[in-house]
Amino acid sequence: MIKRPKIAIVGAGGNVGAAVSQWAVQKELGDLVLIDIKPDPAKGRGLDLAQCGPWEGFNAHNFVASDKAEAMEGADIVVMTAGVPRKPGQSREELININAGIVKGICVDVKKYAPDAILIVVSNPLDAMVFVAKQVTGFPRERVIGSAGVLDSARFRTNLAIAAGVSVEDVQAIVLGAHTDKDMVPVTSTAMIGNVPVGKFLSAEQLTEVVENTKKGGATLTGLIGTSAWLAPGAGTCLMVEAIVRNQGRILPCSVELNGEFGVKGAFVGVPVKLTAKGAESVHEFELSAAEKEAFGKSVAANTELMNIARGFLG
Ligand code: 2OP
Repeated sequence: MIKRPKIAIVGAGGNVGAAVSQWAVQKELGDLVLIDIKPDPAKGRGLDLAQCGPWEGFNAHNFVASDKAEAMEGADIVVMTAGVPRKPGQSREELININAGIVKGICVDVKKYAPDAILIVVSNPLDAMVFVAKQVTGFPRERVIGSAGVLDSARFRTNLAIAAGVSVEDVQAIVLGAHTDKDMVPVTSTAMIGNVPVGKFLSAEQLTEVVENTKKGGATLTGLIGTSAWLAPGAGTCLMVEAIVRNQGRILPCSVELNGEFGVKGAFVGVPVKLTAKGAESVHEFELSAAEKEAFGKSVAANTELMNIARGFLG
């Protein structure tokens, strides 16, 4: 029998989990299992979503909503959105003391119930949580992938498009490194608009402003909304799920363990990754400018610091 992919979303009662669920249903990516520590919000999100079907043209009333980890049994993909979100004025790094324990506990269940799954981590502080997930599950690196570069790159592309007054569809640009306000690396040296270098559209000052706005993009939204964003984080994460379940071979920025790529070993930061049915099949290196190389190095150092804190929760 040909099976539909089983996609378990952990933390589905929360905003990011709900957004991933919505995009996944609209794209008909598979059968969703909505898991949350609180069963009612997961059930409510599922019902709300199912009731979009009559107008949006999808038939998704056969979701499973549960507070039981067993519900993820045999999942092909587990999306981990569990954990507390950022409050205004708070950094992602400050969430480590709460979220490391939550992510660790869920990863024990992922290993038990979905040992062949590809695990996509969305919880913050992102790169350190990917490290925790990798350590706890013991999955190979291609099956433990962090979702952040897709979001930061979407913010970067949007900011470039607005500054240049062009369509975002024609902006090609990537954000590498850690998913932190201070250390992410929006790469301007290779950014293009319609195959024309961005420097032909924007002055150095304008580019600096775009880069700074991109880096604080999450904090800006948290300040405006009162909690962290969910639509663009959900859309980016779902793009990754789609690339995997449809075996698309898309090249997207994702956080994975580096095994010597970009001159780094053993750290987890965002890099261009080929996403296929195997997960993060390969990492793709390219030449950065001297300033970007330095910023990438700082990003790795920041991640190493957070990983050292996270180690304390692994014990
Ligand atoms: C953000 O940057 C939630 O970390 C996420 O909006």
